[in-house]
Amino acid sequence: MAEDLNIISGSREDQYRSLYPQVTALLNGETSRIANMANVCAALKEQFGFFWVGFYLVEGDELVLGPFQGTVACTRIARGKGVCGTAWQQRQNIIVPDVDQFPGHIACSSLSRSEIVIPVFNPAGEVIAILDVDSEFPDFFDETDRTWLEKFASLIL
Ligand code: SME
Repeated sequence: MAEDLNIISGSREDQYRSLYPQVTALLNGETSRIANMANVCAALKEQFGFFWVGFYLVEGDELVLGPFQGTVACTRIARGKGVCGTAWQQRQNIIVPDVDQFPGHIACSSLSRSEIVIPVFNPAGEVIAILDVDSEFPDFFDETDRTWLEKFASLIL
């Protein structure tokens, strides 16, 4: 049974470091990827108060909205479109300090100002999902987020 998260103060690095073992424990023994994605989103949202945290799942040549926390969102994103579709196509993380400066950014909410998008690879090296974290503040994400969100995203494998 899930226990309440122990909410942490301190630097963002401290928060990620303390949250990580809690989320690992929460997911331990659960084989449902959907359930695990849902709890990763909830834990990140609860700890950091991000505006939007969610997974998009690769289905054929599209990304389809999966478990998320936040406002209603676009359900399908084509490969190469928006930040998420570009991260999938390029097989790399993308930090967008100002969404208005990213050509083709898909605005699901006008309140989102910056974002970070992390592809999740299966053992065969295929992208199976994308973790998308959005902030209502410009220039909100940095290398600390990139490092740690990559680790959190990999927990759903
Ligand atoms: N930011 C994404 C769209 C998804 S929403 O922000 C939830 C993009 O441009 O790919």
